[in-house]
Amino acid sequence: MMIKNICCMGAGYVGGPTMAVIADHCPNIQVTVVDLNQQRIDAWNDSDLSRLPVYEPGLDFVVDRARGRNLHFSTDVDSAIAAADIVFISVNTPTKVKGLGAGQASDLRWVEACSRQVANAAQGHTIVVEKSTLPVRTAETIRTILEASQAPLQEGEVPKSFAVLSNPEFLAEGTAIRDLECPDRVLIGGEDDDSINALADVYMHWVEPAKILRTNLWSSELSKLTANAFLAQRISSINSVAALCESTGADVQEVARAIGTDSRIGPKFLQSGPGFGGSCFQKDILNLVYLCRHFGLPEVASYWESVVELNTWQQHRISRLIVQRLFGTVTGKRVAILGFAFKADTNDTREAPAIRIALDLLEEGAQLAIHDPKVEQAQIARDLREAPVELDPATGKSQGLSGVGSWLSANSVEEAVEGADAVVLLTEWSQYKSLDWQDLSRRMRRPAWVFDSRTIVDPDQVRSAGLRLWCVGNGSL
Ligand code: UDX
Ligand code: ADP
Repeated sequence: MMIKNICCMGAGYVGGPTMAVIADHCPNIQVTVVDLNQQRIDAWNDSDLSRLPVYEPGLDFVVDRARGRNLHFSTDVDSAIAAADIVFISVNTPTKVKGLGAGQASDLRWVEACSRQVANAAQGHTIVVEKSTLPVRTAETIRTILEASQAPLQEGEVPKSFAVLSNPEFLAEGTAIRDLECPDRVLIGGEDDDSINALADVYMHWVEPAKILRTNLWSSELSKLTANAFLAQRISSINSVAALCESTGADVQEVARAIGTDSRIGPKFLQSGPGFGGSCFQKDILNLVYLCRHFGLPEVASYWESVVELNTWQQHRISRLIVQRLFGTVTGKRVAILGFAFKADTNDTREAPAIRIALDLLEEGAQLAIHDPKVEQAQIARDLREAPVELDPATGKSQGLSGVGSWLSANSVEEAVEGADAVVLLTEWSQYKSLDWQDLSRRMRRPAWVFDSRTIVDPDQVRSAGLRLWCVGNGSL
């Protein structure tokens, strides 16, 4: 089976970068990324590469090389499906907010809509690949919809046929291009060897064959959820130890180094912080929890649920301790928030720890000045469900009601910090690692605090600038 045309439904954080890398490495394959969102497609087609809808280091170069040659972005979904040998489904699958499984199960309405559209528009044999993170056995739903579409053939019509594969994405945002270029493994789950081989051939343009793992469909789907659950579990584990370090005078960085050098444990994903964010970890664990309850395994469900609970607790713990250190009240106080994205090198704020921490501080009446090098003000307003406060043109001060929390977006770190009682570092952007604390300290109201949830500041520099410092997991400060 020779693959000549690929269609990807969904031009988001997964679909966009993944298809750009495939097109870059497979010049003989035409790759069309489709989306219902015209604005998003326009942004992917923008001649100014700094305006691509996804910020990801190196993505602009890859798009620049392939776009217009064999990489296309379009809203003409049906034509792209009709031409495709492979259709990747890479649409959003957020956690359901109401109805059966609310708060845990994924909302599959977009996946279902895609399956129906593929069933209608496909021609000949089409391999349908699940790329979005999905609950186990979603492939079965997709297959059922595709098979049900087999209407009686008209005279001369070529019969449609489908194969469904699971090919989960393991890329992490911020390092997506590197993860796609040099993956630890590519996982393909399915029942039909010809289709698996056809997809493997696409990856073999740049991935060595030994790294392409083949499993059955359900193992592939479950592996994705399990990989994310294990990674998230490590973060909750180290964050639980961080709290203990702060109480006992230990330093979580030292503990992480000490345990990470044990080759059985390994050093990765032991960085204590404000808790994990991102579109996958929480969603995938909650899917796992839902699945366990569904299959009558409540103890297993509770085990995994505690990973998410610890994460939420860590975020509230940080906002609580900020309030406590600021003499028990932040009402009317300016607090600079540095970093809103859920991690560095992305403009994504989905499940960002900054959201929960900022909401807690707003509830306490703080005046937040938020700075992030890549997140737009409109996105912060959506996440906080509140518009930024207007500044009084005469005084340059906010006109918020006294005692009520408010926020504004600052164009620079200096602007955010001006007049602040505290700086809270929430994202590990590299520019925050080399701040001039002497200068920032002069701009703040004393006594002033620095809360470093990412362990990126130099404690000596902060303290010699006359600032008080809290650093996650460091009980010796
Ligand atoms: C994750 C998985 O890593 C990836 O394989 C999967 O495909 C999607 O989900 P992503 O969410 O993009 O990727 O980022 P990741 O680097 O895993 O970080 C997730 C969260 O954990 C971030 O908020 C990050 O700051 C936090 N984190 C990560 C820590 O707090 N400590 C660590 O040691 C590592
Ligand atoms: P991810 O992080 O998984 O890539 P995103 O939310 O960034 O998720 O992207 C998913 C994209 O899928 C969105 O741009 C959305 O408009 C698109 N989408 C949703 N349903 C469909 C559909 N039926 N056909 C094409 N695109 C779709």
